[in-house]
Amino acid sequence: MLHAPFTRRLAAASAALALALTGGAAASPAVADPRAVEKTHTAVGTGGAVSTVDPEASAAALEVLRKGGNAVDAAVAAAATLGVTEPYSAGIGGGGYFVYYDAATESVHTIDGRETAPAGADFQTFMNPATGKPYLFGELVTSGVSVGVPGTPATWERALENWGTLSLGEALRPAIKVADRGFVVDETFRKQTDDNRARFANFTSTSELFLPGGALPTVGSIFKNHDLAETYRLLARQGTEDGFYAGPLAEEIAATVQAPPTVPTPTLPVPAGTMTTADLAGYEALDQDPTHVEYRGYDVYGMAPSSSGGTTVGEALNILETFDLAGMAPADALHHYLQSSGLAFADRGKYVGDPAFVGVPTKALTDPVFGKERACLINPDTAAQTPFAPGDVASYDGVCPAAPAALADEQDTENLSTTNLTVADQWGNVVEYTLTIEQTGGSGIVVPGRGFILNNELTDFTTTSFDTADPNRIEPGKRPRSSMSPTILLNEDGTPFLALGSPGGSTIITTVLQTIVNRVDLGMTTPAALAAPRASNRNFANSIGRAFVTAEPGFIDEFGDDLAPYEYLLVKSGDAFTSAAEIGAETAIEFLPDGRMLAAAEPVRRGGGSALVLTPSP
Ligand code: GLY
Repeated sequence: MLHAPFTRRLAAASAALALALTGGAAASPAVADPRAVEKTHTAVGTGGAVSTVDPEASAAALEVLRKGGNAVDAAVAAAATLGVTEPYSAGIGGGGYFVYYDAATESVHTIDGRETAPAGADFQTFMNPATGKPYLFGELVTSGVSVGVPGTPATWERALENWGTLSLGEALRPAIKVADRGFVVDETFRKQTDDNRARFANFTSTSELFLPGGALPTVGSIFKNHDLAETYRLLARQGTEDGFYAGPLAEEIAATVQAPPTVPTPTLPVPAGTMTTADLAGYEALDQDPTHVEYRGYDVYGMAPSSSGGTTVGEALNILETFDLAGMAPADALHHYLQSSGLAFADRGKYVGDPAFVGVPTKALTDPVFGKERACLINPDTAAQTPFAPGDVASYDGVCPAAPAALADEQDTENLSTTNLTVADQWGNVVEYTLTIEQTGGSGIVVPGRGFILNNELTDFTTTSFDTADPNRIEPGKRPRSSMSPTILLNEDGTPFLALGSPGGSTIITTVLQTIVNRVDLGMTTPAALAAPRASNRNFANSIGRAFVTAEPGFIDEFGDDLAPYEYLLVKSGDAFTSAAEIGAETAIEFLPDGRMLAAAEPVRRGGGSALVLTPSP
C-alpha cells in the first residue's frame, strides 16, 4: 500500500497532545469520561467545533481539540468512536469519503476511501447458480458476495499522515476507551438492532456480539465491545497495512467473506463471496482532487467520482444558479430545486462510475455552461411527468435545444444508513467526512471475535443487469458508485462558510442540495435549514413511467397544497413516526462573520445528533 509523505504539522503541539492522550500527563483529565449522553443540537462559540450523530463521538472529537489536536485528528477520533456507538452505520468494515479544508493554504483536498470489489467479483458473482438469474437484492444484502474490501482503516491512516498531528494509535485512544467502558444504549441503537434481529440471528459471531442470549439491548443499559477495543489496539500497534490489510486479521476477514459464520440452520441463503488476502493487501485510499462549482458567490467543493455526490450536487447548483430562487415564492423555489436534482440524477445515471474504469466527464458535469443548457428543460409551471433523459456532455453550448429529449429511467434503492461528521479546529481547518457500511447493519456479518461488521457496499453497483454501457456495472477491483456528498462552501476570500453532509443513500445528494438552497437562497439559518422537511427527486418513475418525488410526511403537510399546481406525484418516504419516513440526518458547521463557529446537528431524525464547541459564546 502506498502512502503520501508523512507530513506532520504542529510537531510540538503533537508531542504534548500525544502525552496527554496516552495518559502520560498525570494531570490530564480522562478522555470522553464519564459517558456522554446529552445531545445539544446547536452550539456557537470559538476554539473548535464538532457535529456528529452521537454524543460520545462528539465528546471524543472535542477532547482531542481541547488538547491541541487539529480537525483531522479529531475527525478520526470521532469516526473511530462512531465505529463503537454507531456500529450499524459505519466502522472499519466499511468505507467513506474524507474532505479536508486546509486553512494555511485555503485549499480543499479529499480522500476516496471507498470499498473495492474483490478481483474475483464480476457479474457472475451477482448470479444465483441455483436459478441462473441475478440474486434478488434482498439476497445480496446479507451475503459475502456484497462485501467490498474495506477502505475506512486506510482512510484514517492516510488522513492522519497527510494532515494530522497524531499517530493512528493516539487518535484511536478515545474510541478504545468508549469500547471498553461501554456506552449507554439509546432508543435508536435498540431499534436498529431490532430491525436487524432476523438477519443478525443467521450468524454466530453477530448474535454473540449484538444479541447476547438472543436478547435485544435494553435502553439505558451499557453496551461494551471489548473485541473492537482489541482490534483498535492491534491497529494502533501495527498500523493498518500490517494490522488490517495483512496478517491474521486480513486472513480472518477473507475467510469470513468466503465462508460466512452462519448458524446451523440459517433462514437466509447467505451466498459466499470471493475476497482474498491479496484483495486486502492491494487496497489503497486515494488522494483525489475535489469537484468545484461556484454558487451565488461561494466556492462549493465536493467529492469527485467514485462518489456521484460532488458532480450531482454541483450540476444541480449550476442549474439553479440560472434562476433567482430568492425572488420566488417558496413553492416555486422548491419546484426548481426538485427539477434541478431530477436533471442532475439523469446525468449521474448515465455518466458516473469509478473513474479508474469509466471515463467520467466530471468537467462537463460541473461546467456552468452544461448546467445552463440543462436548466432549459425546467418548465416553470409544471413538474416533468416522466423522468428526464440525460444530457449530452460531448456537445453543449448553453443554448436551449429545440426538441424535447427522449425519456429515461433510473434505478436506485432507498437507504437510511451511513453516518456523517463535521469538525473545525482553532486554526480554521475543517473536515467533512461521510462514512458507511452501506445498509443499516451492513452485510450483517461480524468478523468473529473482532467486534465489527463487514459492509455490503457492492450492492451499490447495479445489481440487476450487466449492460456494458452502464458506468456502474460490477467489475473486479472497481469501486461502486456512491452518493456520499461531504461538501464545503468557501467565501470569495477563501475562508470557510459552511461544511455539511448527511447519511441516507441516494437521498444524501438531495439532502445536501436542499440544505444549501435553504441556507443560501431561502434565508434560513443553518439549524433551520437542517431541520426543514425534505423532498427528494432522484428522477425515478413508477411502474407506468410517471415521475415521482419522495417526501417526508412533514413536507407533504407543509408544501403539498402549494405544489399541487405543478402536478407533482409526491410519494411519502414512509409512514410518519417510522425511521423510513426520515430523509437524512445532517451535521454541519457554519463559520459566522464575527469569527465564531455555529455547530449544528440534526435535531430529530434518527434520534438527533450532538453539536459542540470548545468555548461556547456567552
Ligand atoms: N452506501 C451509500 C452510498 O455510498 O451512497
